[in-house]
Amino acid sequence: MSQNKLKALCARAALDYILPKLHGRTILGIGTGSTTNLFIELMAQEKIRLKGAVASSIATKKLLEKHEIKVFKLDEVDSLELYIDGADESNSSLELVKGGGGALTQEKIVAAASKEFVCIVDHTKWVSNLGEFPLPIEVIPTSIKYVSKEIKEMGGDPEHRKGVITDNGNLIIDVKGLYPISKPKSLEKDLNNIAGVVTNGIFALRPADKIFVASNSEVSEYSRSLASS
Ligand code: 5RP
Repeated sequence: MSQNKLKALCARAALDYILPKLHGRTILGIGTGSTTNLFIELMAQEKIRLKGAVASSIATKKLLEKHEIKVFKLDEVDSLELYIDGADESNSSLELVKGGGGALTQEKIVAAASKEFVCIVDHTKWVSNLGEFPLPIEVIPTSIKYVSKEIKEMGGDPEHRKGVITDNGNLIIDVKGLYPISKPKSLEKDLNNIAGVVTNGIFALRPADKIFVASNSEVSEYSRSLASS
């Protein structure tokens, strides 16, 4: 089965899971990327009634508006019950690496503000150890040289993602050489402590609560509290 079909399958599973929780006053947090886009398309096809959504990127905002789903700024909502997003990697503790699409900072903010984070991935993203996917880090433009030097001292191999300016006007560094990330929470904190780092793509301090992993044979569901399929 193609990766795109697998992405559509986990999007379907997530929509089935959240449907009973939705009502006309729900504002959904929605992430960024091709899997999340399939989730948005599915909601539109099924004419799901929502009050609106909080988008984690300009690209997601545009797609939601194309489907006439009202987009709110995070500041305009009192609370978010649910956040749906993809990931580049997940381990069995539902700690993630995200940011392949460069939207990691807004994604981390919306995930943090949401009561439940539902992640959707195909099986290629389900890993024993995080860190094989180059870790995205958003940095303030003037700090890129300094942050890169600090990361090299930590054993990483940073590469500037050329031509990319984030929605926040910053730059992205992709860091190889950190595999395996044995202590995701402490590495997340350490990287965020480097002056000039806006945020990094490890989502361990606020991991997913539930993940739907699509493979050729089935969609497996893992919960953080139960950590089983
Ligand atoms: C964007 C992200 C995405 O969730 C991640 O890159 C997965 O993308 P896709 O669903 O296209 O595979 O973190 O910043």
